[in-house]
Amino acid sequence: MGSPLKRAPLLRALLPPPPQQQQQLLPTSSVCALEPKAQELPAVCPRPPSAPHSLSALPGPTKWPLMGSLLDILWKGGLKRQHETLADYHRKFGKIFRMKLGAFDSVHIGAPCLLEALYRKESAYPQRLEIKPWKAYRDYRKEGYGLLILEGKDWQRVRSAFQKKLMKPTEIVKLDTKINEVLADFMKQMDILCNQNGEIEDLYSELNKWSFESICLVLYGKRFGLLQQDVGDEGLNFIKAVKTMMSTFGKMMVTPVELHKSLNTKVWQAHTKAWDNIFKTVKCSIDSRLKKHSANPSEDFLCDIYFGSQLSKKELYAAITELQIAGVETTANSLLWALYNISCNPDVQAKLFEEIQSVVSDGEDPNAEHLKKMPYLKACLKESMSIPAVQLLSKMSISTQSISVHLHMTTVLMINSHALGCNEEYFSDWTQFKPERWLQKNINPFAHVPFGIGKRMCIGRRLAELQLQLALCWLVRKYQIVATDDKPVETLHLGILIPNRELPIAFRRR
Ligand code: HEM
Repeated sequence: MGSPLKRAPLLRALLPPPPQQQQQLLPTSSVCALEPKAQELPAVCPRPPSAPHSLSALPGPTKWPLMGSLLDILWKGGLKRQHETLADYHRKFGKIFRMKLGAFDSVHIGAPCLLEALYRKESAYPQRLEIKPWKAYRDYRKEGYGLLILEGKDWQRVRSAFQKKLMKPTEIVKLDTKINEVLADFMKQMDILCNQNGEIEDLYSELNKWSFESICLVLYGKRFGLLQQDVGDEGLNFIKAVKTMMSTFGKMMVTPVELHKSLNTKVWQAHTKAWDNIFKTVKCSIDSRLKKHSANPSEDFLCDIYFGSQLSKKELYAAITELQIAGVETTANSLLWALYNISCNPDVQAKLFEEIQSVVSDGEDPNAEHLKKMPYLKACLKESMSIPAVQLLSKMSISTQSISVHLHMTTVLMINSHALGCNEEYFSDWTQFKPERWLQKNINPFAHVPFGIGKRMCIGRRLAELQLQLALCWLVRKYQIVATDDKPVETLHLGILIPNRELPIAFRRR
């Protein structure tokens, strides 16, 4: 078999045109300290025009009456290929374009200078696209809202209650023992799951179980047994409820949830029942954790947050539920792609293995302290995540003066983080998996936003990074991760970017 040096062969087809062909519409960029060690970069956008652009002056795909550009999107491969189509539109129309899908009106930006301009003028309470089905359920059952759907001052209050614990590196590193406990079980499970050739059937689902179990141990202080041979009823019902909730809410995002609710459709019934089950498990798990640690709340991650804040129980239940839901598939998906990328790049893997071996002694488990001495491991993850799992970020009702464009109240601003990652202008040779580029520290931080940007940036980022870094250490230490074929792997957009087939990788014991 030839040595597959590419990150994902078909992505090459997305190569952008040379920078001079791209339209450059908006303001001057300098680099801010989103990432503390980022170096100064030259400005890449011209100065803003004196008068803002009107929406109608923005370029974009042809908008037909009623349908907008829906037919074009469908013709180019459908919604599953929308990430490729949107990257194509950026190549054709430039750093900013407007698109309509039916009544859904959006302006897309895909250039670091525009992200920076937005970031600098971000409002106190940024908003993103509403998840109406979730809100409908919470209102129906009088449950609270969590960070994913909260807005305004309530969002800020809940965010600050969690921010201190979740975003502070010194707090997060304390969770390495729990993360390792789950990883140790996952490694045992891997041995059982690998066939003679080292392949695992439905690896993605196994990684989802790992990340589910890992985040649950952090949030609820409890194991659900998903990494055992015989999963108990509670674990099975919980994971099933989350799956049903996720599959039904998508349907109610494209058809009005009010209609589903008033007609009591099957989708609404399934969605409601799934949330009922989720909340039942969450409440029971949180209550028993609070009870267990009430004498010494500062010793426990969750109790410390609850007793140190003004949050009500209802707010705590909702916030924890959403943390869990936001943290499972995103983390599993990022690990899946990282494994694939290192399987395609044996030289990178050899260097990574060498780094891990030089830092972690035999017989020791990797821990947060070790990770501080592993720049190459971090570079590998960053490189892998430059094609991010979450492809689009939305911003509502924002001041767009900074990017010199007038938006209507109903227009949504979309940040196309996928298009940034596959743009030659920001990542030269982006089809090649090159962790080394991150060690040179000359990447514009606004070109790499897998966790979003600004005040609503992913609150689980540090936890996810710790989980991913430790998982990669355990896996690369024990197995050589090899590519089993070099046929193309394409990406499909199903809310998150997934491979179009079982990834061709195998785990061979070292
Ligand atoms: C590799 C894994 C992850 C990725 C790629 C990821 C990505 C993202 C992205 C792109 C956003 C939107 C940010 C924005 O709008 O600017 C977000 C928000 C969020 N994420 Fe994550 N995430 C990951 C893991 C986690 C984990 C482990 C948790 C929970 C501990 C979590 C909890 C959240 C929450 C609650 C929000 C909403 C924050 C707010 O609106 O204040 N995420 N994430």
